[in-house]
Amino acid sequence: MARAKLISGNWKMYKSVAETKAFLAAVTVRSAEFRGTELLIFPQAPLLPLLKDSGIAFGPQSVYWEEKGAFTGEISPVLARELGCTYALAGHSERRQFFGETNESAAKRALATHAFGMKSVFCLGEMLAERDAGRTFDVLKAQCAPLFAAAKSCPEGFSMAYEPVWAIGTGRTATAAQAQEAHAFLRGLVKGAWGADGAERVRLLYGGSVKPENAKELMSQADVDGVLVGGASLEPASFLAIAAASKGC
Ligand code: PGA
Repeated sequence: MARAKLISGNWKMYKSVAETKAFLAAVTVRSAEFRGTELLIFPQAPLLPLLKDSGIAFGPQSVYWEEKGAFTGEISPVLARELGCTYALAGHSERRQFFGETNESAAKRALATHAFGMKSVFCLGEMLAERDAGRTFDVLKAQCAPLFAAAKSCPEGFSMAYEPVWAIGTGRTATAAQAQEAHAFLRGLVKGAWGADGAERVRLLYGGSVKPENAKELMSQADVDGVLVGGASLEPASFLAIAAASKGC
């Protein structure tokens, strides 16, 4: 089964209203070139309405798992859906590192995204010390465990983003072979938990210093179904060059 490539940008805490409008103006004029490839942006939440009708899919960088309530600072998945969001990010390493996100809370956010009618991109990945200690696969397994425990089958449209923490914002990309090895392992985990159908359907994105120069080689790997891009998603030229690199992969 061919999985359509997903080119997603994580804008983190960057971009003003004017910068967002300028980005969209530059990207949407060329969006016809990218039919067959899905473009997706995760901006700061207040910018979300600006992406409506842009032709680019969009969603928040995190949602809560309840519809509403006394949860100051959180974003309701129902509100996100109302604003036209079709995706939400869950469990990004910066949420884990700076805001106490755990494997359990990341799984709850991802599954709530689907329960409220959107699709999640669930992030995971090992730290450098864990890789050096040969613990990468153990870490990935532990990061997925609450997700597999809570869901009986692969949610429709579910994606995972493998982002080795040592590659995020460092300029040090995983090699294509390292990405493929981790992705093949993750697809095997999905198969064990959710069966062969889930393993076929799940999209596995690579993230961590993706640039126009390395995107094609990464996306040519059998189990790399797209990318989650931080820094290089902020400029229209580099975001579009990465999208163009997915052609033929
Ligand atoms: P980077 O960020 O592309 O700037 O390394 C990736 C991410 O954090 O999703």
